[in-house]
Amino acid sequence: MIVTTGMKPTDEETAQAKALARELGGRYVPRGNATLASFMRRYDSKQVLVTGPDGLRLHTADGDQPLRYHPGMALVRVKRLREGARDPLVEISGVRPGDSILDCTAGLAGDSFVFSFAAGPAGRVVALESEPVLHAIVREGLRTYRTGMVDADAALRRIELIRADHAEYLSSLPKNSVDIVYFDPMFRIPVYESSSMEPLRGVANPAPLSHEAVREARRVARRVVVLKENRDSGEFERLGFTWVKPKKTSAVAYGVIRVEHH
Ligand SMILES: C[S@@+](CC[C@H](N)C(=O)[O-])C[C@H]1O[C@@H](n2cnc3c(N)ncnc32)[C@H](O)[C@@H]1O
Repeated sequence: MIVTTGMKPTDEETAQAKALARELGGRYVPRGNATLASFMRRYDSKQVLVTGPDGLRLHTADGDQPLRYHPGMALVRVKRLREGARDPLVEISGVRPGDSILDCTAGLAGDSFVFSFAAGPAGRVVALESEPVLHAIVREGLRTYRTGMVDADAALRRIELIRADHAEYLSSLPKNSVDIVYFDPMFRIPVYESSSMEPLRGVANPAPLSHEAVREARRVARRVVVLKENRDSGEFERLGFTWVKPKKTSAVAYGVIRVEHH
């Protein structure tokens, strides 16, 4: 992995690129006037991470749009929540102010954002991401992105993003230690009409959710374990979740395991 800056970097952007190269085991290369494509050829690298005034961007050799942090649809969902509207994940998970949530599959932390807003300042959201580059991009985004709304920005800043594999992390937690455990793994069957996860392909961990992780989640959750998946994936049945009927038009479904107090 090559890490560099934009063409006219500030000292801070240069320092950040150097620090990220160390963190990610990559190589810092001063940008000069070079194109990113020339870096990819010269260093035989398929990815270049670039610091800049608008945060981090990951450019890939396939020439697709660079990956950057953005709250995407989650921002729309948070705006709706502020106006008192309902959100399927909020309803299905039963999240309420003061809750603690463990989001086991952070990605761009969109669902974490919704959870964080719904749980409020007294709540706690810990979000886990296994992939180092994604973790770095989202960490910087959560730290600096401005929505224009003080309460929404505060909800972003409160998310505690941790670089970890969720099965390992869950096994380190005491039983009954969070209210809600949430999984949104990369879908077995991609939902092409919803392209919001498309930029993550190639960067995200594509592994299916394991029985071990679900077993640990049941132990750690006080109230509920929630899984988001494609309704046709067979994952709810395979992993023992009760399917929650999606809206007719949506391929996205939720499954729940309600945890008995133990
Ligand atoms: C579909 S995305 C999650 C999207 C997220 N819910 C959102 O709203 O932005 C799944 C993410 O989980 C991560 N992931 C997959 N397996 C993981 C594991 N075992 N531990 C931690 N993160 C994992 C992937 O790298 C990917 O970024």
